[in-house]
Amino acid sequence: MKKVITIAGTNSQKSINKRLLSHTSGLLKNVEHISIDLNDYVLPIYGVDFEAENGIPPAVKRLNEVFDTADGFIITLAEHNGTYTAVFKNTLDWLSRANIKVWRDKPTLLMATSPGGRGGATVLEAAINYFPFLGANVVADFSLPSFFDNFSENGISNLDLKESLIQKAQLFEQIISPLE
Ligand SMILES: Cc1cc2nc3c(=O)[nH]c(=O)nc-3n(C[C@H](O)[C@H](O)[C@H](O)COP(=O)(O)O)c2cc1C
Repeated sequence: MKKVITIAGTNSQKSINKRLLSHTSGLLKNVEHISIDLNDYVLPIYGVDFEAENGIPPAVKRLNEVFDTADGFIITLAEHNGTYTAVFKNTLDWLSRANIKVWRDKPTLLMATSPGGRGGATVLEAAINYFPFLGANVVADFSLPSFFDNFSENGISNLDLKESLIQKAQLFEQIISPLE
């Protein structure tokens, strides 16, 4: 079974991106999910001097080894002030020091959500443009605007958005595990 690493770009315990991520994972039935919580990889702030003095932290090496096992990634980004959260960017910077192909040239489903009407579109756009330089093969992207209007305990309530995500999840699954 193919392995999909799921990661939300936030350290919030009540993260709406984690809720979207968990819902999306549930749409993919025939893959093994490896769920990464950034709270399990608490890292010092990246700095060239810190790295020169201390090397790459063990938690970065651990996460990098987990990424080696991935057949694909599902990433959901929280937006802080129009860009990545500090914890996500810091993790990305450290991972890029372990392996510049952070995303290993694997198929990637890239998402974002926020309580606002743009649904994290700014950070999503940044990642769509930049992640390929870190080895991402972005096969689909999805933004869920106005999270608290469009998401309930049953999943996405807006039918158009619900259908759109289902199609993108299916496309992602077909790409990582094509039918023989
Ligand atoms: C410091 C800070 C900056 C924020 N900046 C933005 C922003 O630029 N755009 C946006 O849509 N939401 C912004 N928000 C609201 C977040 O989208 C919201 O907190 C969301 O729940 C974050 O995702 P998470 O719950 O998955 O961590 C900001 C929130 C914080 C705390």
